[in-house]
Amino acid sequence: MKRTLVAANWKMHLNASQASILLHRLHERIKIHRDVEVVLAPSSLLLQPLSRQIDRRKFRLAAQNAYHKDEGAYTGEISFTMIKDLVHYAIIGHSERRLYFSENLDVVRDKVAAAVRNEITPILCVGETNHERLEGETKQVLHDQVVTALSDLTAEEVRDTVIAYEPIWAISTFGGQVANPSDAKEAIDYIRSQVADLYSRKVATDMRILYGGSVDDHSVGGYLSISGCDGVLVGGASLNYEKFAGIVDVAYRSNRSDKDEE
Ligand code: 13P
Repeated sequence: MKRTLVAANWKMHLNASQASILLHRLHERIKIHRDVEVVLAPSSLLLQPLSRQIDRRKFRLAAQNAYHKDEGAYTGEISFTMIKDLVHYAIIGHSERRLYFSENLDVVRDKVAAAVRNEITPILCVGETNHERLEGETKQVLHDQVVTALSDLTAEEVRDTVIAYEPIWAISTFGGQVANPSDAKEAIDYIRSQVADLYSRKVATDMRILYGGSVDDHSVGGYLSISGCDGVLVGGASLNYEKFAGIVDVAYRSNRSDKDEE
């Protein structure tokens, strides 16, 4: 059984005390749940203090980024090797990194490989711009992003990788149009079919694929009810205690509430 993954991407928000307070409040509300995994991605600066504060039965930490070399003269960078004891996951290939930090397909591939080499599970973000969508290029974009990013991994490593489909036009800070669950399903099914063609149907079935883009406590149920959607990656709403706790509550209820452990 795959665990539903609810991941909070805090982006470049929350200083140390704000993050600590939010985590403290979430601790009180989030349950230990066999089938729902809650992941928090704070700024790199906060990975160490939060890793000490966190109840690891309730939460896992994710990095938002790291550099693909393990060590060396790369001023200002942090490697996956340096954070491997702090995080379980790393968000890689987020559209903001592709757009603002010129991360192309090859950079994303190298980062995915570096994460896996350091025993960190990638949450690989893929998705098309509004222009690409209107031009009918969504499948081509997803194909290129998925195929290149996974190309240095074995089938087993691909199976353990998480992919997040985040259409750029649906991200709150890029316009935040609401994606219909049916649009999300079509893209998720397409991504899974690509993985099946490249690796195997079993790898594709076993891997987790998330949806991200303006997900909040109201819309999350629609996405989690899509067959093939194994969780959500949440930006803006994850900074709000009520909204994020509400999203996790919906995940508890969405399919497996009879298996609560607390
Ligand atoms: P929003 O939920 O704010 O649209 O952000 C989505 C996102 O980019 C998560 O990685």
